[in-house]
Amino acid sequence: MNPTALTITVAYSAVVLVAAVAILIVWRSTHSFERNRKDTTDTHRLAEGEKGWFMFAVAALAVLLLATLAFIPYGDNAKAEGQQEVLVESQQFAWVMTPSTITAGVPVRFAVTTLDVNHGFAVYNDDNVLLFQIQAVPEHTSHIVYTFKVPGRYQIVCLEFCGVNHHTMLSAFTVEEAR
Ligand code: CUA
Repeated sequence: MNPTALTITVAYSAVVLVAAVAILIVWRSTHSFERNRKDTTDTHRLAEGEKGWFMFAVAALAVLLLATLAFIPYGDNAKAEGQQEVLVESQQFAWVMTPSTITAGVPVRFAVTTLDVNHGFAVYNDDNVLLFQIQAVPEHTSHIVYTFKVPGRYQIVCLEFCGVNHHTMLSAFTVEEAR
């Protein structure tokens, strides 16, 4: 498990625990355990309580927002020092990758483009496990950063139906050991 996944797991577990305790407290506060009790409803007190719960909900959402904002992955694909830049050009029904070899252990920033329609740039390892996927969109360059840890052969598969020969839109590249 990577550090981000671990942080998210811990954060969400804590949230679920707090929510469970809150539900229990609310349930206890709204259930009467007395038998034969006579109800006299104090609507003013109920209205005040409702206001309190509303403020609590707003505060809880604000705390959740601020506590989890830093973990949003947007922006992780920005340019950074020391990355390998790889241009991926797609077209019915082929991929062209420049350069076509990659060094292991160094982050790769893929710039994915298409000359015609939408394609899905998906990279699989040699055991057919999907590593990542990004859309190739006309008139737009999509970026994704990925670090290949294991040298070897990797496959590119198109994951967006793009025409009659979509299923043949395959390619491969090699990740070399770092020197
Ligand atoms: Cu390109 Cu399917």
